[in-house]
Amino acid sequence: MRKLFLILLTFLLIFSFTAFANADEIKIGACIYRFNDAFMLRFRNAMGDEAAKLGAKIEMADGRDDQTTQNEQIENFIAEGVNVLIINPVDRMASQPVIDKAKSAGIPVVFINREPASEMLDSYEKAYYVGAKAEESGIEAGELIAEYFKSHPEADKNHDGKLQFVMLKGQNGHQDMILRSKYSVEAIKNAGIEPVEIASAIANWDKLQAMNIMNGFAMSIGPENIEAVIANNDEMALGAVEALKNSDYNKGDKDFYIPVVGVDANASALDAMDKGEMLGTVLNDADNQGKAAVRLANALASGGDVKSIGYEVTDNKYIWIPYQKVTRGEKK
Ligand code: GAL
Ligand code: CA
Repeated sequence: MRKLFLILLTFLLIFSFTAFANADEIKIGACIYRFNDAFMLRFRNAMGDEAAKLGAKIEMADGRDDQTTQNEQIENFIAEGVNVLIINPVDRMASQPVIDKAKSAGIPVVFINREPASEMLDSYEKAYYVGAKAEESGIEAGELIAEYFKSHPEADKNHDGKLQFVMLKGQNGHQDMILRSKYSVEAIKNAGIEPVEIASAIANWDKLQAMNIMNGFAMSIGPENIEAVIANNDEMALGAVEALKNSDYNKGDKDFYIPVVGVDANASALDAMDKGEMLGTVLNDADNQGKAAVRLANALASGGDVKSIGYEVTDNKYIWIPYQKVTRGEKK
């Protein structure tokens, strides 16, 4: 009897010890829409670094651009017992079931990069969004083009005072696709220039798709008739640059040059800007977005104060990281 008691006591001690040892290690389950995305790679690195600093464990899953795959990954994380979720939804409009799952598991959820509708976020007091204001990046990209057009009279190739441009768009339905496209054109108008869209296409954030599309436009429209290329991100801007180089544009001769702008400020775009192949970009601050997301997730999971994470939480729901224009010479 006494022996049995001792065995039981030992078990109890071991159990309570392991429970205690795990108690202060926060486990974050992070679902990324797709690993194969240059900007999201920067984002993942920033999250990994911050989790290591905080002593939290972070596991990341590759949704491979498929919402069904991502839903399974979310269920697996919940079953594994993560303390908090960070979600970069494949389809931001399909976020309600994700929120419902987190809510019934009683764990907080921090969305990143793809913004769910406010009604969805409002349905759960522990649902948050960390990102950047899409319209801001659109305005800044449009301003870069407008500033160039005003200071380079030769940019008005057909001398009609208007700006004939081509637009390359990201994935359909993404807030950055909708608002960057809209506000870049608005900014050009607000600068007193009449924009004329001569062609536009969806290239899904992808360099190769953008290159193929732009090769087609160069053939059908003629690069001599294109006065600017506005791309919703850097990868597509770089694809456009490749296509223009195939037509002997943007290789250093200023008589054969078309200003191209993107968004993100990925290293490859900064290189292209240094070489004079691309006009400019807008910094999409992955470092601060990743850091803020992990700090917020960690605070929510550990019962910490979200007011003391070093980033302002507005409406008890959002952390907004500012964009920033980047042109040649001010490499970041
Ligand atoms: C945007 C970014 C794109 C792409 C997309 C993925 O904010 O500019 O390059 O990464 O997010 O959702
Ligand atoms: Ca013109």
